[in-house]
Amino acid sequence: MPYKRALVTGGAGFIGSHIADALIKRRIKTYVIDDLTTGDKKNVNPNAEFVKMSITSPAFPALLKKIQPDIVFHTAAQVNVRSSVVDPVTDAKVNVLGTLALIQHAAEAGVKKIVFSSSGGAMFSDRVRPPYSESQPAEPVSPYGISKRAGEMYLEFASSTYGIDTVSLRYANVYGPRQNTKGEAGVVALFGSHLLANEDIIINGDGKQTRDFVYVGDVVRANVLAMGKNAHGIYHIGTGQETSVLKLFKMMNRLTAASAPLLTKEGSGEVRAVRGSTMQFGPAKAGEVRRSALVSKKAMKELGWKAEMSLEEGLRKTLKSLIP
Ligand SMILES: NC(=O)c1ccc[n+]([C@@H]2O[C@H](COP(=O)([O-])OP(=O)(O)OC[C@H]3O[C@@H](n4cnc5c(N)ncnc54)[C@H](O)[C@@H]3O)[C@@H](O)[C@H]2O)c1
Repeated sequence: MPYKRALVTGGAGFIGSHIADALIKRRIKTYVIDDLTTGDKKNVNPNAEFVKMSITSPAFPALLKKIQPDIVFHTAAQVNVRSSVVDPVTDAKVNVLGTLALIQHAAEAGVKKIVFSSSGGAMFSDRVRPPYSESQPAEPVSPYGISKRAGEMYLEFASSTYGIDTVSLRYANVYGPRQNTKGEAGVVALFGSHLLANEDIIINGDGKQTRDFVYVGDVVRANVLAMGKNAHGIYHIGTGQETSVLKLFKMMNRLTAASAPLLTKEGSGEVRAVRGSTMQFGPAKAGEVRRSALVSKKAMKELGWKAEMSLEEGLRKTLKSLIP
């Protein structure tokens, strides 16, 4: 179904703002609701209609009915795994009650489809070895993972009870331009900003923990494909590759230090003098799994989606975007 009006919750954030850009490029009228807790107004596409509001606000249902979007890309969330361990109530208020507020009022507002930004990284425990496919039973271990699983289940409820088409995209660790360091997986942004400032880096734990790093452009393509009529239910959006945090640091350090000309901002002619950073080990963080990677079998079969960006090229693009 061709959608004409879209709402992106959290559209001032990293992933949501890229989704909004892609929708506007496709000439879909796009609204953004964001309370700017971690997002930034400067990420919002100037052609989007922006409203600064929390999805937990009592005014949100009325706004939803006023906008009448055909499709909602729900990316607004409390995004930090560690904060969810320290304060699970705040996490649940946004991620569970905020998602429920959207679901409860979506049908009356005429919403036909909801595409939910879920998390594959937080959906599985260390009891099972990665990579995880979509058929692997979910076993979240942090309040953040639990609240994302709850969101997926409420979406299934919305689908069966209100007839709204729903898709949950479980992302691996997304990285790319506009990511800030406060997010769920800000390690690339964090390393990048320290490396470019010649600051040394502290690695949590022994650095042998692995993650599946997927580029934001690939994630946006998955969201666009999720608009298609074949897209329903849960999909894993990852590369299937495990990269240790230590390897990531070494790759980024090499790209920054040895390939400084590659990091020249296009057209600026500026080459930054970077000497490379050293790293130290700090304590491991609570609530984080040891290994993680996602196989996107169902996404490949039903959406024709697979990750296309290589880690090296994606990191190069991200580092370029971080040059002040
Ligand atoms: N970045 C990742 O690696 C990753 C991985 C898995 C899932 N996700 C999910 O993707 C989505 C986007 O994450 P991101 O990395 O772009 O983070 P982000 O922090 O850049 O984006 C989240 C946005 O939601 C907004 N927001 C937070 N609470 C809100 C509220 N109550 N009302 C309205 N807006 C609110 C924030 O201000 C921010 O702009 C989140 O749902 C996150 O859980 C991200």
